[in-house]
Amino acid sequence: MKKIIIDTDPGIDDAQALCYAMAHPQLELLALTTIFGNVSVELATQNALQLCELTGSTALVAQGEHQPLQIKPHPVADFVHGKNGFGNVDLPPPARQADSRSAAELIVEIVRQHPGEVSLIPIGPLTNIAQALQLAPDIAELAAEVIIMGGAVEVAGNVSPYAEANIWNDPHAAKQVLDAKWPVTLHGLDVTHQVIFSPEFLDTLAQQSPQCGGFLRDASQFYVDFYQSRNGFNGCCPHDLLAICYAANPQWYTTRTSNFSVTTEGEEIGRTTAIADKPGNKRYATAVDVDSLLEDYLKITGGLQ
Ligand code: BDR
Ligand code: CA
Repeated sequence: MKKIIIDTDPGIDDAQALCYAMAHPQLELLALTTIFGNVSVELATQNALQLCELTGSTALVAQGEHQPLQIKPHPVADFVHGKNGFGNVDLPPPARQADSRSAAELIVEIVRQHPGEVSLIPIGPLTNIAQALQLAPDIAELAAEVIIMGGAVEVAGNVSPYAEANIWNDPHAAKQVLDAKWPVTLHGLDVTHQVIFSPEFLDTLAQQSPQCGGFLRDASQFYVDFYQSRNGFNGCCPHDLLAICYAANPQWYTTRTSNFSVTTEGEEIGRTTAIADKPGNKRYATAVDVDSLLEDYLKITGGLQ
């Protein structure tokens, strides 16, 4: 089993991805760390705890940063994910509380406990990961890899013509994380826009898994409505799932080796640019086997209650 820590701002597509991770027999989810982004960090923590209770996951949950390293925080994305982050569909209040350690402290502790074994999977702004690096620079050599949902390398952004939301929410943190020594695979809009959960797909999920799948189907309606009004298609992109699925099934992905620069100011703030003439241990995904991914999602997540 692959040991993973997911840093997340749940979020509807975060919820879609987290339920898959929690159900996956090949993934050992050691912790969820929470970050501002789609919702406030306090709400992200509550939502992470609720999802653990929904699926029966015993992963530790630790709260992270409530604002970016340097820029002024952007408003939360309630027009995409609803006021509660779950499309205004409520889950019961969590019985469990968050860990007393901060997200960065917990990341450092777990990575040091399992040298070379832990994959970090940030699916929100990269502030906690940058904080963990500042706290303990050795984790850049101790973590197995970093698998990020973020960026738009060869395609347009989703919050500006240049930037994807997770990078735009904290470009300075993204720069630190992408400049560190560890291996990185970036799953940007280049690949995440290739996968669509249709309403029929979500209905099938709900039939297979009335409780978890039913919740995901109902929560996703708000997200589908957003896509319908913004992009004119009937369905939604499960962005964060692309990073989680890669941890279990890298063979389904096509990647390109490249280092990256991140624009930290001006009109193009949040832009991720490939520096292809500098080969190294960084790459970005350009394609995925969509049919295998969708089939696997139904098999794994549809197996939850
Ligand atoms: C990313 O931004 C958030 O709204 C989503 O959860 C995803 O992590 C997509 O740009
Ligand atoms: Ca997210």
